[in-house]
Amino acid sequence: SQRVFSGVQPTGNLHLGNYLGAITRFVSLQDQFDCIYCVVDMHAITVAQDPAELTRHIREVTAAFLACGIDPKRHIVFNQSQVSEHAELAWVFNCVARIGWLNRMTQFKEKAGKDRENASLGLYAYPSLMAADILVYRATHVPVGEDQKQHLELTRDVAQKFNNDFATSIAAHGFGEAFFPLTEPLIQGPATRVMSLRDGSKKMSKSDPSDYSRINLTDGPDAIAQKIRRAKTDAEPLPGEEAGLAARPEADNLLGIYAALAGTTKGAVLEDFAGAQFSAFKSALVDLAVAKLGPIGSEMQRLVGDPAYIDQVLADGADRARLIARSTMDDVKDIVGFIRKR
Ligand code: TYM
Repeated sequence: SQRVFSGVQPTGNLHLGNYLGAITRFVSLQDQFDCIYCVVDMHAITVAQDPAELTRHIREVTAAFLACGIDPKRHIVFNQSQVSEHAELAWVFNCVARIGWLNRMTQFKEKAGKDRENASLGLYAYPSLMAADILVYRATHVPVGEDQKQHLELTRDVAQKFNNDFATSIAAHGFGEAFFPLTEPLIQGPATRVMSLRDGSKKMSKSDPSDYSRINLTDGPDAIAQKIRRAKTDAEPLPGEEAGLAARPEADNLLGIYAALAGTTKGAVLEDFAGAQFSAFKSALVDLAVAKLGPIGSEMQRLVGDPAYIDQVLADGADRARLIARSTMDDVKDIVGFIRKR
């Protein structure tokens, strides 16, 4: 059977990259798959978080999921820390994954910075917890932005090594050849890597000190308009076809954003704007972005005003997630050789 899992960290400043690269994809997969969408609060604490802010941000990401159109009745929406099986399976995976694999993770190198000795052990083990998130539900498909590709490769490596290391036991317990699936990343659409509005060589990120680098999902129409008008571009008019965007990262980025918001391709957008100046294109982009994001921002605001409702959605989702996760964890314990109550 086919199942989708994905996660978003509650670290504040949810932005257009998260929306276009991930959350819109989550929404569109709902008709084809059983989906599990998780607010990964345990991943968030791999770097220091203010506790009250963390609580607020967990509700904010949940509100974004709901405001964008994820249906928490048909699918599962919950926060990671309510299902302790994630942490349990992560420990087993810490004993499957190799230190050499984790040493190659570019995101760890970026996030740990120069003072690597002082990074948390959790930040280092982050991809192992991520593999557990996915595989505790034996998810087959994971929609993410481009920046998560390496982590998903590690997830497949962990699944494969677990299947190999325990092959005899897996077969003996009647699970056949492989216990964990080799999960497929879904990195799709024209905006899998949305770049900073200030610098076409840096990705749009929650932690960029400049608020002008990103459009936040909570930005109102004025902020959206200002940020797009100030976005960096070059001096040339827009080309007639996609090949003309090759050495123009800022132009390419704005085109990708437009295409993703309009639900079309960069090529199709260029057919309408070939030869146009950026001033005209940016005006159209402002209108489109405000039309798409405005209602989401106000619905998020309404939802975070009702924390009891959000917390209920999360608790209900966690109850349903736990049933699946517990059954996987029971099987894993048997495969590894642990003793458990029956
Ligand atoms: P996070 O919270 O950084 O980002 C959430 C999602 O948004 C995507 N994204 C982007 N997409 C396009 N352009 C951008 N500039 C951009 N910035 C972020 C990310 O690729 C992601 O899909 N490790 C994950 C969270 C996680 C997870 C998981 C994901 C934990 N466990 C299991 C999938 C499955 C992260 O930090 O995402």
